[in-house]
Amino acid sequence: MTTHQAPVNGARPWALLAELTHACPLHCPYCSNPLELARRSTELSTGQWTDVLRQAAALGVVHTHLSGGEPLLRPDLERIVAAAEAAGIYTQLVTSGTGLDEARLGALCAAGLRSVQLSVQHADAKANDRIAGRPSSFAAKERAAALVRRAGLPLGLNVVLHRDNLDAVDDLIELGEAWGVDRIELANTQFYGWGLLNRAALLPTRDQLARARETVERRRERLAGRIDLVWVVPDYFDGVAKPCMGGWGAVSLTVAPDGTVLPCPAAASLPDLDAPNVRDRPLDWIWEHSPAFNRFRGTGWMSGPCGGCPRREEDFGGCRCQAYALTGDAARTDPACALSPDHHLIRSLTDTGPVQEPPPYVYRRPGAVPEPGHGGSPEP
Ligand code: SF4
Ligand code: FES
Repeated sequence: MTTHQAPVNGARPWALLAELTHACPLHCPYCSNPLELARRSTELSTGQWTDVLRQAAALGVVHTHLSGGEPLLRPDLERIVAAAEAAGIYTQLVTSGTGLDEARLGALCAAGLRSVQLSVQHADAKANDRIAGRPSSFAAKERAAALVRRAGLPLGLNVVLHRDNLDAVDDLIELGEAWGVDRIELANTQFYGWGLLNRAALLPTRDQLARARETVERRRERLAGRIDLVWVVPDYFDGVAKPCMGGWGAVSLTVAPDGTVLPCPAAASLPDLDAPNVRDRPLDWIWEHSPAFNRFRGTGWMSGPCGGCPRREEDFGGCRCQAYALTGDAARTDPACALSPDHHLIRSLTDTGPVQEPPPYVYRRPGAVPEPGHGGSPEP
C-alpha cells in the first residue's frame, strides 16, 4: 500500500484508460495503438490489475474504460471488472463485440460491469468487415448490441470516421437507432499509431466533412432527449488545436497492457519520455512526481505562439503526440493550430484534398510493419 502525497499543482485524475491487451480479432487501419504492439506475454496479471485499480481509486479515479485491443480476449476480464467495482470505480467495456455471448455478458454483469461501448466501422455489413479486416464482424456486433440491450446496460456506439465511411454518417446514425443505443460517438480519425501510418488512405475531403457535419446537426435536433450524438472534431481541418486529454497529466491516465503508465494512449511514441511502469513505482508517485507526467503539465513548458496565447489554458497547446509526430519535437505548438509555424504541414494535406487513388490499408496486425532490426513477432 502506498502513502498518498499532495498532488503537484492540485491535479487529480478521475479517469483511467485500462488497456488490458493489445491483442485484437479486428485489424482496423485507423487504430491509435502503437505500431509496436505489446506482446501477450508482457501483459499485467489479474493481481497486478487489481492493485492498479485499487491505487487508482485512492488517487481519485472514479471511471475506467476497459479497453485494448479487445478486452474480451482477457479470460480474467470478469475478475478485473469485479476489482474495479470493489474499488468503487465505474466500468465501461470498450469492445468490438467479437466474442461476446450471453454467458460472458452475464458473468460481466454479475461482476459489476456498468456500461458498454461498441465499435462499428460502417453501417453496411460488407464495408464494415472490409474496414475491420475481419469477415462476419458486423454480424457479431449486431448480436452483441442485442445482448447488451437485453441485459439492460447503457450502450454506446463508437464510430471512427474517415474517407471510407464519412458519407455513411446518416446510415450509421440510423443503425444506432435501430440497435437501440443511448449514445453515438462519431469520432473523426485522430492520426496516431496505425492511423498515422494509414493517413493517406483515411484522410477525407473537406466536402465529405462538411456534408457529414450538416447531417449530424440535422439529426441531433431530431434525436434530442433520446440519443446523445457526439461529434469529435477533425482537428486537421478546423485550424484549431484540440485540448488533448483535457491537458497533460490533468484529468486522466492510461495504463498500457505491459504496465507502462502514460498521460495519454499515444505517448508511448515519444522517444525520450522515460515512461514509468506500475511494476516499478506506485501510481501516486507516477501521477505526482514522475518526470513523464510533469513534462507538459500546466503551461510553464510552452514557448513559441502558445507561450503568450490567451487560449493556452483552454487547449493546453493542443496535442503533444501530434506535435512530435509531425515536427519531431513534442514541445512545439500543435501543427493543427493555425497559429503554429508548422501549420503548413497539415494545410498541405488538407488543402490539396486526399490522393485520388488512396493506397491500400496497412491492417493493424503484429509484424505488418517490421520493427527496426526485427522481422516481426508471432504474438499477440
Ligand atoms: Fe492553442 Fe497554442 Fe494555438 Fe494558442 S498558439 S491557440 S495555445 S495551440
Ligand atoms: Fe498524446 Fe494528444 S495523444 S497528448
